[in-house]
Amino acid sequence: MRIIRTIARWRGLQKAHARKGLTLGFVPTMGALHAGHVSLVKKSAAENDRTLASIFVNPTQFDDPRDLENYPRALERDAKLLAASGADYLLAPEYGELYPDGYRYRVQETVDSKLLCGAHRPDHFDGVLTVVLKLLHIAGARRAYFGEKDYQQYLLIKGLAEAFFLDTEIIPCPTVREADGLAMSSRNMLLTPEQRAAAPQFHTALSAGKNTAAIRRLLARKGFSVDYVAEKYGRRFGAVRAGKVRLIDNVKI
Ligand code: PAF
Repeated sequence: MRIIRTIARWRGLQKAHARKGLTLGFVPTMGALHAGHVSLVKKSAAENDRTLASIFVNPTQFDDPRDLENYPRALERDAKLLAASGADYLLAPEYGELYPDGYRYRVQETVDSKLLCGAHRPDHFDGVLTVVLKLLHIAGARRAYFGEKDYQQYLLIKGLAEAFFLDTEIIPCPTVREADGLAMSSRNMLLTPEQRAAAPQFHTALSAGKNTAAIRRLLARKGFSVDYVAEKYGRRFGAVRAGKVRLIDNVKI
């Protein structure tokens, strides 16, 4: 797997692949990879001739500077995992490569991005949609893969691709869970052993609870600080904090 640091370098390779008629799948990530990311890379490798993954911890989508600072970073380990999962290229650009404008230009969705996580993380989705538009444009892929754990993010990115007539097909992939039901997330590694032991109760409550008010009460009793539990798009969504770590999840109703 080749590691690429600049957009110019990637563009040269992408054009060469396009000339040969090779299909490209793209898996954008912020690193600290886990089995959920691996499943996206494997799906892309199965469905495309070549797979590009990216690792970029995008500062514009963090509403809390401490969260950005604490976000796990493990480039060497991630690169090995990507290579073993079938990625052909890893794009790992610096901030200045992706934001030559210093974030003066940004994308905003004005309705669904204000709900659920958007109501609790001001401007979060502006940062996500802006960086994803940049990355999709740079990647020039036939297909791009996103996990359903971030279902609201997936819906907004799908809408973005439609609104801006992007050529890339946005493909949702099922949430990958630990054996005890906890959704895989890069933030799980920040949980203390006690928080990790309690964390699966979040998914249990979301799946089994009768209604959102009862689930909120149950989660609060279990010691979580609840941002929201809400039903939308035929799914039940939740976001809680276990100490300083924010967990999100969703299940089909
Ligand atoms: O889901 C993520 O890891 C990020 O939000 C994404 C899509 C890579 C954009 O930074």
